[in-house]
Amino acid sequence: MRNITVVGTGYVGLVTGTGFADLGNKVCCLDIDEAKIKMLQDGQVPIYEPGLHEMIHRNVKAGRLSFTTDYIAALEEAEFVFIAVGTPEGVDGEADLQYVGQAAETIAKNMKHPLIIVNKSTVPVGTGDWVSDIVRTNQPEPIDFAVVSNPEFLREGSAIVDSTNPDRVVLGSLDKDAANKVAELYLSLRAPIIVTDLRTAEMIKYASNAFLATRISFINEIANICEQLGADVKEVAVGMGYDKRIGHHFLDAGVGYGGSCFPKDVKALTHMATTQGTHPQLLKAVMDINQYQRIHIIQKLRNILGSKLKGKVIGLLGLAFKPNTDDMREAPAVEIARALLRENAVVKGYDPVAKSVAAKMIPGIELADDAYGLAKDCDALVLMTEWNEFKNLDMAQIKSLMRQPIFIDGRNLYEPDLMTSYGFTYRGVGRGY
Ligand SMILES: NC(=O)c1ccc[n+]([C@@H]2O[C@H](COP(=O)([O-])OP(=O)(O)OC[C@H]3O[C@@H](n4cnc5c(N)ncnc54)[C@H](O)[C@@H]3O)[C@@H](O)[C@H]2O)c1
Repeated sequence: MRNITVVGTGYVGLVTGTGFADLGNKVCCLDIDEAKIKMLQDGQVPIYEPGLHEMIHRNVKAGRLSFTTDYIAALEEAEFVFIAVGTPEGVDGEADLQYVGQAAETIAKNMKHPLIIVNKSTVPVGTGDWVSDIVRTNQPEPIDFAVVSNPEFLREGSAIVDSTNPDRVVLGSLDKDAANKVAELYLSLRAPIIVTDLRTAEMIKYASNAFLATRISFINEIANICEQLGADVKEVAVGMGYDKRIGHHFLDAGVGYGGSCFPKDVKALTHMATTQGTHPQLLKAVMDINQYQRIHIIQKLRNILGSKLKGKVIGLLGLAFKPNTDDMREAPAVEIARALLRENAVVKGYDPVAKSVAAKMIPGIELADDAYGLAKDCDALVLMTEWNEFKNLDMAQIKSLMRQPIFIDGRNLYEPDLMTSYGFTYRGVGRGY
C-alpha cells in the first residue's frame, strides 16, 4: 500500500486515482474546482465514463479513496504526487502550461517531506525540467524531490479498461531510482514498462498521438479519393488491415478526429517543431485533411439540399466526439452545428449522454430526447457519433418521421445498399459515390 495524491480530477486524474486505489493504495484526489470535489464527496461523478461510478464508490467505501481541495491535507501523507491537470491549446497552438505551473508551485509551497512528483499531463518536451525548476524555486526550504514523466494513453469511453490493462507504461526521469519506484506502482498490471529519460518520455506521448491522428487523416484522404473513383474505403481499410505491418486499428474513415487530445496534441507538436526550426509538413497535412473532413460533410448536404441551407432542418445524430463519453471538446459536431447555424439552418441534435454539455457548447441547437424525436421533420440526418444504440434503429420509422429522407453517415455505420433500400438518399464517407 502506497500513499498517492492525484492533482486534477478530470478524465485522467479521476480514473488514475481510482485505479491506484483499486490496486490497494491509499489515494487522495485533489482539484481546485470546488463544485467537482463536492459532487465527488457526495457520491456523484462529474463525468460520464463507463464503470467509473461503481469503482469510485467501492474504493471510497473501503476507505482507500478520498477527495479534497486542500493541498496541505492532500500532501500530508503522500509519497507520490501525480499531476493530471489540463494542458489545453494556447493562442498559437502551443500547449498552455499554466495549470501545470500552478500545480507545481502549490505542491512546492506545501510539501513538508520528500516527494516523487509524477507528471501525467501531456506536456511539451522539456516541461519536466521546467517543473523541477518551479518546485525548487518555490520551496520555502529545500526538500528532496524527483520529477518523473508518466504520460497517459487511456481513451475516454474505455478509460478503466485502458488504465488497468495498459499496452505499456512509459516512465522518464533523470532519477532512475524515482522512476523505478513509480514502476513498482504499476507492476501488478503486468504491462511492459519503458524507463527512459524525461524528454524521451514526453516525446513518446506526442509521437503516439500524432501517429494515430495521421492514420485517421490518411484513411480520410483515401476515402475522398475512393469517392471520386467509385471504390469503397471500408473494404479498402479491411484489405489493408490484414497486412501485419499495417493492422486494422485507426483506419475508420469519417468526419475526422476530435476530442480533448488529438487536435491539441498535433497542434502542440507542430508548434514545438516550428519553434525549433524544423518543418513539420506531415503534421500540417494531417490537420488540413482533418479540417476538410468536417467541411466536406456540409458540402454533401449542399449537393443534395441545394447551396442554401437556410431554413433546412438538419438533425445531428450523436454529438460527443466519440461513443461512451460526454466529452465534447473539439467534437466535430460542435463545428458542424455552429457552421449550419451561421447559415440559419435549424439544427437539432441528440446524444445519449452529452445533452447537457451540448446545450452549453452549441447555443441555438434544439435537443431531442431520442433518435426518433430527432428525426421528426428533419430535411436531413447526419450521423456524427457511432453510439451502440444507433446501430439498430428502426430505419423505416426514422424515414417516415423525416421531411426528406436524406442521410449523411459521417461514421460509415450503415450499409449503403440497405439504407438505399429503405428509400434514403444515403451518403457515407468514401463509399463508392
Ligand atoms: N482526456 C483524455 O482522454 C486524455 C488522455 C491522455 C492524456 N490526457 C492528458 O491528461 C491531462 C488531463 O486531461 P483531462 O482530460 O483529464 O483534463 P480535464 O480538463 O478533464 O481535467 C483537468 C482537471 O484539473 C483541474 N485543475 C486545473 N488546475 C489545477 C490545479 N492547479 N490544482 C488542482 N487541480 C487543477 C481542473 O479543475 C480539472 O478538473 C491533459 O494534459 C491531457 O492532454 C488526456
